[in-house]
Formats: sequence, structure tokens, C-alpha cells
Amino acid sequence: MQPPTSLLDEAYAVLEANDQNGYTMPAAELYPHQWLWDSCFITIGLRHKDIKRAEQEILNLLRGQWLNGMLPNIIFSDDPRYNRDRDLWRSQVSPLSPTKYSTTGITQPPMLAEAIFRVGEMLDQDDRQDWFLKVYPALLKYHQWLYKERDPHDEGLILLIHPWEVGMDNTPPWMAELNNHQLSWWIRAIKKTHGNKLIDLFRRDTRRVPLKERFDTIEALALFDIERRLRRKNYDIERILDHSLFAIEDVAFNAILIRNNNHLLRIAKIIKHQVPDDLRISMNKTVASFEQLWDEDDNDYYSRDFITHRLLKQPSAGSLIALYSGSIPPERAKHLVRKLKSKHQYASLFPIPTVPLNSAWFNPDNYWQGPTWVNINWLIIDGLKRYGYDAEAAALRRSTLKMVTNQGCYEYFNPIDGRGLGTINFSWTAALAIDLMLNPSLSTTSIVK
Ligand code: GLC
Repeated sequence: MQPPTSLLDEAYAVLEANDQNGYTMPAAELYPHQWLWDSCFITIGLRHKDIKRAEQEILNLLRGQWLNGMLPNIIFSDDPRYNRDRDLWRSQVSPLSPTKYSTTGITQPPMLAEAIFRVGEMLDQDDRQDWFLKVYPALLKYHQWLYKERDPHDEGLILLIHPWEVGMDNTPPWMAELNNHQLSWWIRAIKKTHGNKLIDLFRRDTRRVPLKERFDTIEALALFDIERRLRRKNYDIERILDHSLFAIEDVAFNAILIRNNNHLLRIAKIIKHQVPDDLRISMNKTVASFEQLWDEDDNDYYSRDFITHRLLKQPSAGSLIALYSGSIPPERAKHLVRKLKSKHQYASLFPIPTVPLNSAWFNPDNYWQGPTWVNINWLIIDGLKRYGYDAEAAALRRSTLKMVTNQGCYEYFNPIDGRGLGTINFSWTAALAIDLMLNPSLSTTSIVK
């Protein structure tokens, strides 16, 4: 298929407009800093235009790495306009945070190895070696950190401590937990007295995007409240887990990790590095333990509570990302594809809704509770191809590009009528549309079939 030149030009223009001299902000004003998984997706698009710039996107991301190996979900811009954002997190309270940059104290889905690998695909053999050698130490340290700090019981599944770490900020399973167990007394009081109506007036995000397309204010307050609690413990995971009631082994995050572990292993092999045994063992454990997230009754994967192992049974597109892991058994992949094709669940006109159509949570305009996101589609397209569902992958690729061509590079889209939602000129929508148009490995053959 010949890419529609206008969309390609438009997408490149979005990335250029959001370029901050070396890193790409997700969108002007609403997201002015460098975000972790955003930059990984952005790199995957940028590599088609300017490989050096794509490399720089990753190198800039690595500036934010903490001494323990953590990669934060945000590296803050040093523009004085954003003093408040930096001050909220105050990463300097941890001796492990970088001295030169302000960051958050939490992470985001580990897409880094994928981005590094995809850059490598575009380089000749010598340059690829150099590229991998340059970034591998930081990549390895990041994956080691994930297991060391976020898998304290050595179960193979990584736990998350804040919904922002999932990247799907208000996804139903997390919000249900939040509402049922986590609201502080003062937030409950605001909820009871409808004080949120007043607070709505002060929200920065809703000055740019209508409230109905964003977080509920009570939920937003709760997220800031959890952030405050993490900061008070200086982002020290032992202190956090000591009293935390909120630790979840997230299905999408762990599926992404499995695939990225594989990329890491491939990179290590190319540069002839011996991956430490304990890391290899943990990686294998993740693949096995991931299957404990499967629910036989619902034929679906779910996130689960870290302590009780209770499955959080609010369905969401997070579980479809299991396809991207590449490690799930083909029969289970088949169940997921059946859901994708069901008119009651994910087969809307502009798929994939982030929450199935027949869920009580479904809301076609609200953020991660219904709208279609291009990054989720990209992951699922890749996963479908891995399991040999080439026709389904091609159809999803087509509908995704059609949606973006019709509306422009919006942050997310209404899955029923395809209307663009959230902010316009959103970087990962642009970058991944570019990749869907130009990806040379689009017709990769199945590894499983
Ligand atoms: C929103 C999204 C998150 C993304 C960030 C920057 O918070 O939920 O996934 O990384 O915006 O685009």
C-alpha cells in the first residue's frame, strides 16, 4: 500500500513541532516534558526519518536513569514555567535520583528494548553493534532494577505502585481498586460534599481538554495523594511496600516486559554479552507466572493484587497486550482474538476500545475507559502477527490509519464514530502512524502458528 503522503507529512510535522532540542514532548502545553514510553514509541517513528535523531531520543531518555537503574516515567523540562511539576515530585529527596535532572520517582511500561532494537534494525552491521554497545549497559541495569525492586517475592511478576506506572492512567481495574480501598479520608469527604465541583475550576488539563474526556477529579486527587505518600517515603521501595495497600501485578506491563526481555536477550547475543544467570532465571519465571493471570471462567488475562493474588476482574484492552508478549499459548491467543472480533466486546467501528463495549465501565469519550489509542493498536497489531493472524492485523492497521487520516494526530479517538479526542498533535499517534505506514517488517511471518 502506498502511504498517503499527506498523513506522512503531517505526522512528521507533528514530531518536528514537538521537538525540544533532543527529546520530543508528547504534546505542547499538556505534556511538555519527556515521558518514558512515549519516547520509546516516538523513537520507533523517528527512525524512519532521521536515525541519529531517533538515537538521540533514547540517549536523552537515559539521562534520567537513577543510580539503582530505575527509569522514571517523566524527566522534567527545566523551564521555570514548570517549577510546580518538579516541586510536586521533588526527586532530590532520594539520594538515588540524578543530580542534574528532576524526574518523577516511578516508572512506566518497559518499551525501551523494543525501541533500541527497532533503531538497530535500520543500521548496518557495524553501526548496529556500536549502537547496542552504547545503550546496553543502561538497558540491562533497568531490567535488573525491575526484578530487584519490583519482584520482592521472586514470583516473576513485576508489581506497580501507582496507576501512572501502567501508562493507562484510569484503566478500570486500577480505578476500581482505588475507589474500593484507597481513598484517603479527606478525599472521601470532598466526594461526599461534592467539593470536586470547586476543584474542577482549578484543573490545568481541563483548560485544554473537556472534563468528560479526562480523569474524574476525585480520581485525579487520589492519584496525587498516592504520589505524595510515595514522596514522603523518599521513593524507597522497602518503606513504600512496608505500609502500602496498593501494589498490583499489572497484566499489560508484564506482557510488555516479557517481549522486551526477549529483545534484551537478542541484543545481548548480538554484542556477545553473557546475561547474568539470575536475570535469565527471573525472565523465565515471568513467562511461566504470567499464565497465573489467566482466568479459566472468563477466558481472559487479568491484573492481580500483589499480596492476596486476587484477580482484578474488570476487563480491559490491557489483557489483549498479552498477544504482544509472544509467550502465551496459541489456544489462549485464540480466545483473545475471539474477543477482538466480537461485536459486544472489542469490534467497534474504530477499534480497539480500551474497555469492551459491554462493560459497565465503557465510556467512548473518557481517556482509558473506552477510547481507542494508537499505541495499544500498534502493540496488538504486532501481537496478532506473531500468532499468525495476518488478516486481523492488516484490518486493524487499516482502520487505525483511516482514523488518523480522517481526524489528525489526536491523543485518542472515540471507538464508535472515530472522532479525535484529548489533545491534538500528539507525538506517539504521529510516530506510530508513520511506523504503520512504513514498517519494513510489517509482513513478518508467524513464530508460533
Ligand atoms: C497520559 C497517558 C500516559 C502518557 C502521558 C504522556 O498521562 O496516560 O500513558 O505517557 O499522558 O503522553
